Amino acid sequence: MSELAAMLDITDLGADGLRQVLDLAQSPVAALGRPLEGEGVALVFEKPSNRTRHSMEMAVVQLGGHPVYTRGEEVGLDSREPVEDVIRVLAGYHRIVAARVFDHGHLVRMRDAGVTTVINLLSDRSHPMQALADALTMRREFGELSGRAVAWVGDYNNVARSLAEASLLLGMEVRLACPSGYQATEAELERLAALGEASISQTDEPGTAVTGAHAVHTDTWVSMGQEDDAAVRRAAFADYTVDASLMDLAADDAIFMHCMPAYRGLEVTAEVFDGPRSRVITQAHDRMHAARGLLALMAADR
Ligand code: CP
Ligand code: NVA
Repeated sequence: MSELAAMLDITDLGADGLRQVLDLAQSPVAALGRPLEGEGVALVFEKPSNRTRHSMEMAVVQLGGHPVYTRGEEVGLDSREPVEDVIRVLAGYHRIVAARVFDHGHLVRMRDAGVTTVINLLSDRSHPMQALADALTMRREFGELSGRAVAWVGDYNNVARSLAEASLLLGMEVRLACPSGYQATEAELERLAALGEASISQTDEPGTAVTGAHAVHTDTWVSMGQEDDAAVRRAAFADYTVDASLMDLAADDAIFMHCMPAYRGLEVTAEVFDGPRSRVITQAHDRMHAARGLLALMAADR
């Protein structure tokens, strides 16, 4: 199988692959042809979704393919049957299998079965499809991204990891502002630092990270599957709300970004989320364009 037989993390693309995806995402749909003509794409979701399901389904259709959505409990990864049996069977029907899973290890096992192309639609570790859209939205806003700075305020979670990887591969400086207990480890910071020439830093002070930044990102404090810890998490992140005074520390042309779903009054105020610096709806729409770019690259890669 080819090098691009899976995208479990943004780093699977590398800097060149990431730029290629963004270029394809910005190409007219008609210019991409119908590389998935007559082919299926399985979309397995162990968790809820609005953006990821719709953007993937429409991107598959735009490339001539047929998406098949299945809820996780129907497939039953390692409960109804082993992950390896699931992927070997789906590989006979579908050109690509994409899955949103609780356990990133299940995606690794799907990839390692070596039978078809696998895409991560969000796991406990990472959310690379989101990062592709994030990069696309920032590129629309700023053009060349190298030399720009991204600030992340909140939990160092799946979305943060993929955003940091994509940003560094594109030459952007990354500044994390996360409370103790919810930070990237030193080993993780070293791994990230090796991805690009620009720097990555971490602080527990949002103002430090946001000062002069060009894109300020945040996400929910309680990810899917963490609902039992909601009260503890909300207390830990109480000083990490992105509000207008925090945004005022950012660069003059700074934008606010959020992968959504968003919780106004918690990780971001309504004033910022719905305000003039917010690009959240463009960002959500860019999920489809970015997905189409990735699928076009993967479908061409046989
Ligand atoms: N941002 C994102 O992945 O949204 P959904 O959970 O709605 O797919
Ligand atoms: N970090 C969030 C992202 C949702 C799109 C979660 O995993 O629930």
